[in-house]
Amino acid sequence: MKILFLGDVVAKSGREAVIRNIQSLKAEYDADFVIVNGENAAHGKGITVSIYNRLVSAGADIVTLGNHAFSKKEIIANIDLCPRLVRPLNLSPTDIGSGVSVIERAGKKIAVVSVLCEAFMCPVEESPISAVEKILGKLNADLVIVDLHGESTGEKIIFARYFADRLSAVIGTHTHVQTADERILNGCAFISDVGMCGAYDSVLGRDVEEMIAHTIEKKPTRYVPASGPAIICGCLIETDDETNRAVKITRIQKTPSTLV
Ligand code: FE2
Repeated sequence: MKILFLGDVVAKSGREAVIRNIQSLKAEYDADFVIVNGENAAHGKGITVSIYNRLVSAGADIVTLGNHAFSKKEIIANIDLCPRLVRPLNLSPTDIGSGVSVIERAGKKIAVVSVLCEAFMCPVEESPISAVEKILGKLNADLVIVDLHGESTGEKIIFARYFADRLSAVIGTHTHVQTADERILNGCAFISDVGMCGAYDSVLGRDVEEMIAHTIEKKPTRYVPASGPAIICGCLIETDDETNRAVKITRIQKTPSTLV
């Protein structure tokens, strides 16, 4: 089984690039299944039903979220219209949508879980370790892929080490910067962060001039997503069909000149 995971889609630049390129990426990597983190897809913060529908129509089998899951209020009221949307298990409100989705593909039940880290993040309802422990025993799945959304590489490594024997993959998201620490831990694919799908000339997908005005010149600014061509970052997870354990993880970085 080959699973393509694309990192945080940031605003229009990243969104349109993913929608345009997802099928060619799927073909290039011979992927059976595609997971896209869409938590920054709507103007950099959150997602709308319309954007969710466009990502799924383009080829995403599952769309995961993160700390900005509910930044666009319409998704709270309409989350039941989005069956392939996976919200963080431990982000309040916890009683809407689902933090795990199981889809059958090529004879395998694939569970995708979203959970938030604690360090340097918004307050969570419970620790990611506790939240995932609670659901793992109840899952009926051959493969379990966790989108671990957080700031701290150390926290993500601890999580992956703790669950390595019981998960197929722990894929870090949120920082928008791809790390070069991909590896297989006891049959579990891991990377601290897969990076973003967003404007290449930017600060984590946000406009450079606006960030300089905001951070250095201390001017009051409003969030401005960067425009311009996007980079697409992600990874390919390969699992053994006999054992259902991960055997390979490959980082993916597509700079604008290699994309349509
Ligand atoms: Fe995030």
